[in-house]
Amino acid sequence: MSYVINDEIIEKVRETSDIVDIVSRYVSLKRSGNNYIGLCPFHNEKTPSFTLSQTKQLFHCFGCGEGGDVISFIMKIENLTFPEAIKYLADILGIPLEEKKVDKKLEQDKKTIYEINKEAARFYYYNLINNKEALMYLKSRNISKNVLNQFGLGYALDSWNSIYDYLKNKGYEDSDIEKAGLIGRRRDNSGYYDKFRNRIMFPIIDTKGRVIGFGGRVLDNSMPKYLNSKDTLVFSKGNNLYGLNLVKKHSNRERIILVEGYMDVIALYNHGINYAVASLGTAFTREQGRLIKRYGKDIYICYDSDTAGINATIKVLNILREEGVEPRVIILPSDQDPDDFINNNGSKEFQNLMAKALNFIEYQIYINRLKFNIANPEEKIKFTKEIAKELRKLKSPIEKDVYIDKISLETGISKEAIKKEVFGESFKDNKPIRKDKYINKEYRNNKSKIIPIKAVLEPAHLTAEKTLIKLMIESYEYFELIKEHLKEKDFLNYECNILANIIFNQYKDNNQLTGIDTNLILEKVKNKENIDMAIVEEILSKEILFMPEDKYVLIKDLIDTIEFSKLKLERKQITEEIQRIEANKYKDEVYESQFKSLCLRLTEIDKQLEAYK
Ligand code: CTP
Ligand code: MN
Repeated sequence: MSYVINDEIIEKVRETSDIVDIVSRYVSLKRSGNNYIGLCPFHNEKTPSFTLSQTKQLFHCFGCGEGGDVISFIMKIENLTFPEAIKYLADILGIPLEEKKVDKKLEQDKKTIYEINKEAARFYYYNLINNKEALMYLKSRNISKNVLNQFGLGYALDSWNSIYDYLKNKGYEDSDIEKAGLIGRRRDNSGYYDKFRNRIMFPIIDTKGRVIGFGGRVLDNSMPKYLNSKDTLVFSKGNNLYGLNLVKKHSNRERIILVEGYMDVIALYNHGINYAVASLGTAFTREQGRLIKRYGKDIYICYDSDTAGINATIKVLNILREEGVEPRVIILPSDQDPDDFINNNGSKEFQNLMAKALNFIEYQIYINRLKFNIANPEEKIKFTKEIAKELRKLKSPIEKDVYIDKISLETGISKEAIKKEVFGESFKDNKPIRKDKYINKEYRNNKSKIIPIKAVLEPAHLTAEKTLIKLMIESYEYFELIKEHLKEKDFLNYECNILANIIFNQYKDNNQLTGIDTNLILEKVKNKENIDMAIVEEILSKEILFMPEDKYVLIKDLIDTIEFSKLKLERKQITEEIQRIEANKYKDEVYESQFKSLCLRLTEIDKQLEAYK
């Protein structure tokens, strides 16, 4: 059910609520002068740095930099959108909300289509169970009875009017059956004909269990191989994914695999892999990207290994990366799709491929090595240029650096040459990465093989970086304190990293400054490639609401948050890398030594993490 949320309601929620009341449902608060303090619910801490002002009706955490009013508090803690948070608070406060009026006619039309689709799916299923030839076909594709039932597969009879007659008998109108996309009007206007004839039917079911459309496959090599329902009031291809209903039902949502075809989803499921979905025979859309993101933490793409599959993979990668996720690509042997592969090799082998799946840059290296023969000097140059183009797109400077090492190692192209392509002639300005004093020597020598720290940061970490940047801009004094612990390179968010560079340079040139002029910063970031100005503006306009006496403690808290989160990030990447090495069939000495040093590093990290507890 949806409600009318307008300015009037929002104002009323703001006026009626008391932030201290609401927050104390989640945090145990102590009075401290005019304010309240407590342990921050948005990051791990032992000493309270979460502050609440009753007069201002605002909260702020000095540990992670999080802050805002009662609505943003509820949004964050309950993970709600703005209108959802308003509804949530209105319920608590007893403010009545008006229901949005629904279009009754439209709702009724949709309901009828859902019903017709359900009846049709039943009919198709019944036909299948009673048709030897269709059952034989599915058997030849290795599909078990159980899986056939799970997906509700069916068969459309070799007839021009069987679904039409069946649904008419059930009392449905021609126009409604047509709206569901199951029949078409005859050219001479003399009546209707069944759209799906002599085909295996794949009902497309949404996450609420409703049949929204169908795909139908021929039983032989005739064309077109697949027919799909047209878009209807309840079915829009770009907004749905085949198999998502079963992923919702069975998978633990740790991972999700995007494949191309109906049969791929089914074959994987048949082998116990219950977390695959397929886009519906159309180009992958942003909306589908958002869906995928919701149903799996780790996202894999496994398209056919032909040229069309590679091109489609690149498009999906770009869409998903724009949605802020970092998918991995599963590489299949040539001329196979997931269905072929898992039927030939079994699920264990498929999972081995998953463990070796490539991230964005690794995939770029992979496809460009297919394209160019780097033994030939000219092609090697082309290869380097192509890869450099992709490296330039990476936001994190650390990531860039690690991959330059990796590519150099794999191809024998010098690091200098790659850097020149990536950064242009002025690359020498890019200072070397700070060497982590904890990293042992063996680990450091192998670091080219380690996955870099990604620019995807925990919310508390990101807020802490932004807050520290703002503090450094505000005063030289804060800058001096912060600089003792963090260098420019330690700011991992792309925008924060650029701002840190500017700030460090400004103060280096002129330490007489009390703070840095915002306009000067805006001037300097103007021409930076790929910079997200919304983030810069957010930092510049950040209000640091409370500034208690002991700034050392506050700054230390923010730095601890960053270091703690970085260690966790590194821990996650090392465990993943260890799993990948273990899954590799061809273990050699390099792998062994890499494995050993990774384990050593893991022990060190755990020790350090323990110290934060
Ligand atoms: N597709 C489609 N219309 C076609 C061909 C394909 O809608 N004429 C869509 C279907 O969703 C199909 C997917 O694209 O599942 C992938 O096509 P393809 O790889 O050719 O089919 P498979 O799923 O591999 O089917 P099969 O193994 O039965 O050949
Ligand atoms: Mn196939």
